[in-house]
Amino acid sequence: MKALVLSGGAGTRLRPITHTSAKQLVPVANKAVLFYGLESLAEAGITEVGMIVGDTAAEIEEAVGDGSRFGLKVTYIPQERPLGLAHAVLIAREFLGDDDFVMYLGDNFIVGGITGLVEEFRAHRPDAQILLTRVADPRSFGVAELDASGQVIGLEEKPRHPKSDLALVGVYLFTPVVHEAVRAIEPSWRGELEITHAIQHLIDARADVRCTVIEGYWKDTGNVGDMLEVNRAVLEGMERRIDGEVDSASECIGRVVLEPGARIERSRVVGPVVIGAGTVVSDSYVGPFTSIAENCRITDSELEFSIVLRDSSILGVGRIEASLIGRHVEVTPAPSVPSAHRLVLGDHSKVQIHS
Ligand code: G1P
Repeated sequence: MKALVLSGGAGTRLRPITHTSAKQLVPVANKAVLFYGLESLAEAGITEVGMIVGDTAAEIEEAVGDGSRFGLKVTYIPQERPLGLAHAVLIAREFLGDDDFVMYLGDNFIVGGITGLVEEFRAHRPDAQILLTRVADPRSFGVAELDASGQVIGLEEKPRHPKSDLALVGVYLFTPVVHEAVRAIEPSWRGELEITHAIQHLIDARADVRCTVIEGYWKDTGNVGDMLEVNRAVLEGMERRIDGEVDSASECIGRVVLEPGARIERSRVVGPVVIGAGTVVSDSYVGPFTSIAENCRITDSELEFSIVLRDSSILGVGRIEASLIGRHVEVTPAPSVPSAHRLVLGDHSKVQIHS
């Protein structure tokens, strides 16, 4: 069994973070979202991975390399434009050969991995198996309609009037019958070859398409609220590990991960929190569900339920909550006169000011 991992796409919902970085590499608990997916494939016993890449190919390749770090063998497959998930299957035909495969969307996150699902698929080998989960607003997903016996009877991509609250999760298991289906469909209104349509094609042809409704936490990490939630869920499951330095005037309470070279001075850190290598926290409070990446400086500030990417500084600004802060960002106080906010914000930035 092989895997096809999708790591293209523009990540428009996570701007400005994704202006300069692939959405699959945005860190959750200081580790790229994509890496959790790759680890779960390796855990499920898969070794051969085809990685579909687009505009951010160089960055993805630099991060993942040949995959050996994950126990995987990665082959890169460039997709010249984001033409859809079924298009990705189409261009991976040679790589996939006649093997069964898992298609995994690199920005999706599944708590507890996929080992059980892959085993179930291997045991029964239906033509295709999809994962569903209940969501509050299904309109930005593929949506499934089931009959009374729990059999999938219809799938719609991003419907205006969803027939259920069961959204398609970005992990699909296929036998080679899917190749005929991806060749049979036409592009959707958004100009993409939709995998949803290919699966509908299989259903119409009376193929055996099964579904599993998963309870485990998952999110499309396309927006900031979801990012903070998935970060919280991962930090929740962490063990305490202090490899950095904590001075005698500081306290690290509960599940705190402090990477080597990180330093806590005259501060209070209440877990679950992860603090990356080389980061210095001084005269500050860092509260639960916060991830601070490498080489940051948090001074004379308070930070809670937030993600800070590498090389950023937060200096003397009081309390920050529910925030996603990019790389090389500086947050500092304004001079006392004039009494004004001073902002230098990139395109698509969002600022909420409490005055
Ligand atoms: C894609 C699929 C959709 C699925 C979603 C999960 O949407 O087309 O059916 O529910 O992934 O992340 P997209 O990310 O292309 O908007």
